[in-house]
Amino acid sequence: MDAKEIVAKYSTDYIKDKKIIGIGTGKTIRKLIETISDIDIFKTKQYMASSIDSEIELSKRGFSVISLFSGIIPDVYIDSFDFLIRENNGKIVLIKGGGGALFREKLLTVNSKERIFIGEISKLKVPKILQIPIEIVPVSLSYVLTSLTSQGFRVKIRESQGKIGPLISDNGNIILDMEVDNTQDLCKLNNELSNIVGVIETGIFCDLYDTIILADTDGRLEIIK
Ligand code: A5P
Repeated sequence: MDAKEIVAKYSTDYIKDKKIIGIGTGKTIRKLIETISDIDIFKTKQYMASSIDSEIELSKRGFSVISLFSGIIPDVYIDSFDFLIRENNGKIVLIKGGGGALFREKLLTVNSKERIFIGEISKLKVPKILQIPIEIVPVSLSYVLTSLTSQGFRVKIRESQGKIGPLISDNGNIILDMEVDNTQDLCKLNNELSNIVGVIETGIFCDLYDTIILADTDGRLEIIK
């Protein structure tokens, strides 16, 4: 069993008593959706999804999905992440958005009663240069690029796989990937980036969690509260 599957299976215990479950996006969450499909109690729940992809996957499997337009607050939000960074001040920063769903992921993270993140222990190994996803309004592209490059950042427009042009998010926006040294104060950077007109959201999740569950391929688990 791979670590994604192990952590997905283990995390079901943390969400099985909740009525309305916010569901994230990505391969780990696909494993979670597969897992809960085989457990009867999860058929009685309602779900809110952070991407069209997860919404389709839940609907296909017969789960009841509530629109984000409802403004309902999920009892719990569960998702994965790309990297986990422990800052010197003790804060934990998660980098998210590898799948391009960062905006709805942050929307559900800040608007849920409880937040659980799950992932492989290998996601603690952070590269020296991180790629920070940033979602921006398309028409602001040139201005945002000028603003970021004039501050010395290297930025790439995320491309759509299999066709020419930028990847368009579920919200009709463009995703940038910006290179950042992992020693930077990421929480401060998140605030600075959010102040640029055109930036909708960043993939920096600064201290936005209640429980983080990590698993290794040998079945070893680590819980961060
Ligand atoms: C989606 O936009 C991301 O934030 C994912 O949660 C993150 O990339 C982890 O994905 P995997 O579960 O595929 O590793």
